[in-house]
Amino acid sequence: MRTPEALDEAERYTAHNYHPLPVVISEGDGAWVTDVDGRRYLDFLAGYSALNFGHRHPALIAAAHAQLDRVTLTSRAFVHDQFADFCRGLAALCGKDLVLPMNTGAEAVETAIKVARKWGYRVKGVADEQAEIIVAADNFHGRTTTIVSFSTDPDARADFGPYTPGFKIVPYGDLEALAAAITPNTVAVLLEPIQGEAGVLVPPTGFFAGVRELCTAGNVLFIADEIQSGLGRTGKTFAIEHEGVAPDMYVLGKALGGGIVPVSAVAADREVLGVLKPGEHGSTFGGNPLACAVGIEVVKLLETGEFQRRSAELGERLHAALARLIGRGVVAVRGRGLWAGVDIDPALMTGRTACERLAERGVLVKDTHGSTIRLAPPLVVTGDELDHAVAQLSAILVSP
Ligand SMILES: Cc1ncc(COP(=O)(O)O)c(C=O)c1O
Repeated sequence: MRTPEALDEAERYTAHNYHPLPVVISEGDGAWVTDVDGRRYLDFLAGYSALNFGHRHPALIAAAHAQLDRVTLTSRAFVHDQFADFCRGLAALCGKDLVLPMNTGAEAVETAIKVARKWGYRVKGVADEQAEIIVAADNFHGRTTTIVSFSTDPDARADFGPYTPGFKIVPYGDLEALAAAITPNTVAVLLEPIQGEAGVLVPPTGFFAGVRELCTAGNVLFIADEIQSGLGRTGKTFAIEHEGVAPDMYVLGKALGGGIVPVSAVAADREVLGVLKPGEHGSTFGGNPLACAVGIEVVKLLETGEFQRRSAELGERLHAALARLIGRGVVAVRGRGLWAGVDIDPALMTGRTACERLAERGVLVKDTHGSTIRLAPPLVVTGDELDHAVAQLSAILVSP
């Protein structure tokens, strides 16, 4: 099936919950994808950071193949031989005692919310039904009914009520507002170390050190949603490391599945994650053998430090190149490592138009919030490929 036909068929038979660029991908390799007509593109979205290791990383594909030939699913009714290795490895990577594997990012966020509430009632001593969780404006934590209950994005939220209570929203990066929102009923503060969907917003220096202090002082769990920012994306294993603090709970997803299977998890110490008892939470597919086999390899890749190093070094090159476009069709650039939010001058074109023009020139990126485009290439991208992508961006801004 060629591109127009494949687009027509997709349009006819699917719910319109996405507005994809008109590219029909049939193959991926490293930082590159090929469409059904044989055109090649640099993938600078990388599955919203689910493809940090690139398409079909050989070690991850080998682990998946080997596991496919052994056993793929057991459910958690039994234990399988990949489970402990994955959980031990991931817990060590996070510096935490325990891990609870799930599948999608939203499920892991839901898990963190449930654990925080139960911890609040059973450990902190909050009165029944009174637990509060503080979140930030412009957050993105997923699409479930509870999560959209505390979204500030009308598209994510409108028409999906009634909403789950128990959440307070404060401006991102505003320590005073956060301090004022904490009460004896606050069980957790849930934040993205860098807000991805909001446009790759980096908080003011010292904000997270302040969050950590407030949480410790108020006996409140600090939950870092590192689903998009974590696992090498910003030049460190976790984006929160740039702030010199550690959260009480990590929420992970996306790249944890190596771009092969959905794998998410929360990681925390025993006094937090240990509150869950059999029957209180679970998932048929969470922590399945195929997921764990891939996850074990993901952890091993991260243990080498190579991807974090590449992201830090190449990130400097990317941000230096993007900074040169400011005033030349670009209004502002934000981000860390191989992750950038680029605000296109709205007088020139929308973010969507910029994405379409870049796709015509063989570079795939995605817009957010009108005039911002996000660049998040796989961490296996080369310096030359980065330069090429930025040159294409520069070209569309000069001759739209
Ligand atoms: C920070 C963050 N949290 C949660 C999610 C939700 O993950 P999923 O789409 O796998 O449910 C995302 C997805 O973009 C995200 O960026």
